[in-house]
Amino acid sequence: MSDSVVTSIMSDSDSIVTLIDVEKSFGKNNVVKKMNIEIKEGEFLTLLGPSGCGKTTTLRMIAGFEEASSGTIKVQGVSVEDKEPFERDVNTVFQNYALFPHMTVFDNIAYALKIRKKAKDEITNRVNEMLDLVQLKGYENRKPDELSGGQKQRVAIARALINNPKVLLLDEPLGALDLKLRKQMQVELKRLQKKLGITFVYVTHDQEEALTMSDRIAVMNEGVIEQLATPMEIYNRPLTKFVAGFIGESNIFDGNVEAIHDGILDVETRAGTMKVKGNGFYVGERIHVSIRPEYIKVSADPVKGFNLVGNINDFIYMGTVVKTSVDLNDNTEIKYSRFEKDEDFKEGDSVNIYWNPEKAVAIKTKM
Ligand SMILES: Nc1ncnc2c1ncn2[C@@H]1O[C@H](COP(=O)(O)OP(=O)(O)OP(=O)(O)O)[C@@H](O)[C@H]1O
Ligand SMILES: [Mg+2]
Repeated sequence: MSDSVVTSIMSDSDSIVTLIDVEKSFGKNNVVKKMNIEIKEGEFLTLLGPSGCGKTTTLRMIAGFEEASSGTIKVQGVSVEDKEPFERDVNTVFQNYALFPHMTVFDNIAYALKIRKKAKDEITNRVNEMLDLVQLKGYENRKPDELSGGQKQRVAIARALINNPKVLLLDEPLGALDLKLRKQMQVELKRLQKKLGITFVYVTHDQEEALTMSDRIAVMNEGVIEQLATPMEIYNRPLTKFVAGFIGESNIFDGNVEAIHDGILDVETRAGTMKVKGNGFYVGERIHVSIRPEYIKVSADPVKGFNLVGNINDFIYMGTVVKTSVDLNDNTEIKYSRFEKDEDFKEGDSVNIYWNPEKAVAIKTKM
């Protein structure tokens, strides 16, 4: 059996949305590059990345508002090239809600069923179900400008869910809300997705939102998926320097593998010597080392295998954690955080930095 046959069988049985070598260019500008994703049924998958990396373009191609320059998009195993957006069993929620301002909440939610000429009773029943679902009972006669941001967002979600799409595409749906409301809506949306069992493809540039809501995250950078994995894997085992730097806080060093013993690499960097766990690396290889601020340890005495010396900077109290940094000899700074201030050290002290090599991540440099 050839590889392509295996791929197509897998796609058809396991995934509800499949992107195979999907590319998109606007003129000479190639904004989505050879993208491959298999989105599983019932999954909450997030496209995460900085502004302009191609998230919205990817979503619009799945929805059918934008045509791929090359490659194949399948929904439920069937190529959707020739299908109009409304024929695709997917629905979209946009950041700006896109509600009809002159229509009531009821009519906004009912819209998709009305244009399909459904019976009046059926429409009323379905809209009531949706109002229940998004907790907007009693608001059916209001116009959008009589609603709060969070309420408008719920109307937009109800409107997108009314014709039972298999997949809901959400493009920064909470972007217009203030932080507190956004956190609340994150919990609501996640609950809703679990309850309905619908596949969500969610776009955000907010890494915390992605980490808390998603089953899997596709981290995008300049039109390429750098890593597609669970939030825990993305956070603990970033595959690329970009992912390590984009998700959470990290200290990233560039260095050379000097020796390898029992899967632990001795790495020489400009700042000094350090240890990191890593498989598949060789002596002499140039790599990145990423270490989270919470895993940094300090000692007054030298620690075997490490030679990172510097002076402690100001302690900054941030509620439950204390953040500080150490100025290293090569003029770089290493961030570290604690749940409580280290009693043994004070600002200005000279310290030796070290960590458990298993907590650091060795990352391949790009070819
Ligand atoms: N219709 C278009 N014509 C030309 N270029 C476009 C068009 N739509 C998007 N682009 C370009 O494609 C790139 C990706 O845009 P896209 O909207 O997908 O980014 P994004 O990841 O959603 O960013 P943001 O987080 O800012 O919403 C950008 O450089 C953008 O300027
Ligand atoms: Mg966008």
